[in-house]
Amino acid sequence: MRFQKAEVSSPATIANFGPGFDSFGLCLASPVDRISISRREGEDFTVEIEGDHGLPVDPEKNTASFAALKLAEKCECDGKGFSMSIQKGMKPGSGIGSSAASSVGGAVAMAALLGVRDKRIILEAAAMGEELISGSRHFDNVAAALYGGFTFVSDHSSKRIIRIEPPTFNIVVLLPEIEIRTGYAREMIPESVPMADAVANLSWAAGMVHSMMSKDIEAVAHHLNDKLVIPYRQGLIPGYAAVRESALNAGALAVSIGGSGPAIFAIAREGTDRILEAMAEALRSSAGLEAESFVTEPGTGAKVLSVV
Ligand code: HSE
Repeated sequence: MRFQKAEVSSPATIANFGPGFDSFGLCLASPVDRISISRREGEDFTVEIEGDHGLPVDPEKNTASFAALKLAEKCECDGKGFSMSIQKGMKPGSGIGSSAASSVGGAVAMAALLGVRDKRIILEAAAMGEELISGSRHFDNVAAALYGGFTFVSDHSSKRIIRIEPPTFNIVVLLPEIEIRTGYAREMIPESVPMADAVANLSWAAGMVHSMMSKDIEAVAHHLNDKLVIPYRQGLIPGYAAVRESALNAGALAVSIGGSGPAIFAIAREGTDRILEAMAEALRSSAGLEAESFVTEPGTGAKVLSVV
């Protein structure tokens, strides 16, 4: 069967999720990007983006179409004769895996159209889209967006990904009105770190995996810590310390930074409205910044909505 059009949704994600720099990823139930791809025999690859997000429409420069092209290449298809339409559900550069959502969406859409089911091929193509934007082929956001739930890279050289079904909890997300380029945030991280900090992260990471497996939300919160990147990056987010403290005072179980920021997220069992207001107010009063915000929960990953 030769399909003509595929439509997919691809979710936001939280990379690092505390101690798992470049390894952990948590898929969010919302927001999502919606991407569709259609065959246009004999024409060049075209990209159309709804709204003004400042994103490129050159298929070689747009992360969704680039990932789709890479997937086509892996399947020995020349990548010509397609049109892609993108509806962004999230703000680029905000720390909730916007580029990964686009990359995964593009790769999943092309895979659906070409009848490709091997998730490893989709993952590789999506990571190439992510690399186009961030300059680094890290798998944390793309793995979570593709597989859903809580994922981690258990071996970087073989790119082994493990997925764990997380417990259900509330995630309050604040997106301060600034943009942080991932490439720049990665330059903040030192080449080497003190052994004691590495040991602390190793222990928290092991604890986080166990907490997710045992679906213990308090333990998830207890292990949501990091000494390897956040201490070096938090200065990029004005008001981070105040927002964190206000969320904890308002009843959040733990607070951290989404990926390379500026997203700040809190996890909670209840009282999400109160926590969200407290975080927004702390950001306003300490840094003079407004923010977008939303409440969500762990999600199940990219979905093929239709293929005809
Ligand atoms: N692990 C990445 C980082 C996620 O923190 O730089 C951002 O895409």
